[in-house]
Amino acid sequence: RKKVAVLISGRGSNMLSLISAAQDPAFPAEIALVVSNNPDAGGLERAAGFGIETAVLDHRNYKGNREAFERDMDALLRSRGIELIALAGFMRLLTPFLVNAWKNRMINIHPALLPSFKGLHTHERALETGVRLHGATVHFVSAEMDDGPIIIQGAVPVLDSDTPESLGARVLTVEHKIYPRALALVASGAASVSGHKVVLSREDADLAGQT
Ligand code: GAR
Repeated sequence: RKKVAVLISGRGSNMLSLISAAQDPAFPAEIALVVSNNPDAGGLERAAGFGIETAVLDHRNYKGNREAFERDMDALLRSRGIELIALAGFMRLLTPFLVNAWKNRMINIHPALLPSFKGLHTHERALETGVRLHGATVHFVSAEMDDGPIIIQGAVPVLDSDTPESLGARVLTVEHKIYPRALALVASGAASVSGHKVVLSREDADLAGQT
């Protein structure tokens, strides 16, 4: 099983979906470490409750020196033998240093159907725009924000009665389904990067399209 670190900043519901999936010994990844940049992240206690090692790297101790923060993060991950990183609501922009060090070994979940609605407040912007479908994307991380080869997407309908909260809740249920699937595809080697796209081994190709 591949050793995975999950990076969080908040409540960690996506982290929990990965931990739950990895409870199955047949799952090809093990969640070996959870790291937060925010000491108050609720996900830290939830992870510790599963007996998973947790760590805090508080970005405020680095006074804006993003690369020093990332060098310490990188050293921590390497010291624990981590092989893959899963960003799960990790709300720090990464520099090319960490992105390049973990190229094709770091994945992220974004609450929109990329390449639409990169950045923050995706549910508000989807409602303002009037799209009829919205959703979530798991992708490999590249140097540009919310960009990189797409592994899985999940779509939900947008209803006229939706608020950002109701739409966000609908998207979140899809996030919790697709993130474990995407991690399994990457950890098992079934999903690999080819140019700017992900290719899937044939037996997994159907899986990635379904939600
Ligand atoms: C999730 O909706 C995730 O997609 C989003 O933050 C939330 C974290 O919730 N990520 C981003 O917006 C990244 N730009 P969680 O802590 O319960 O997983």
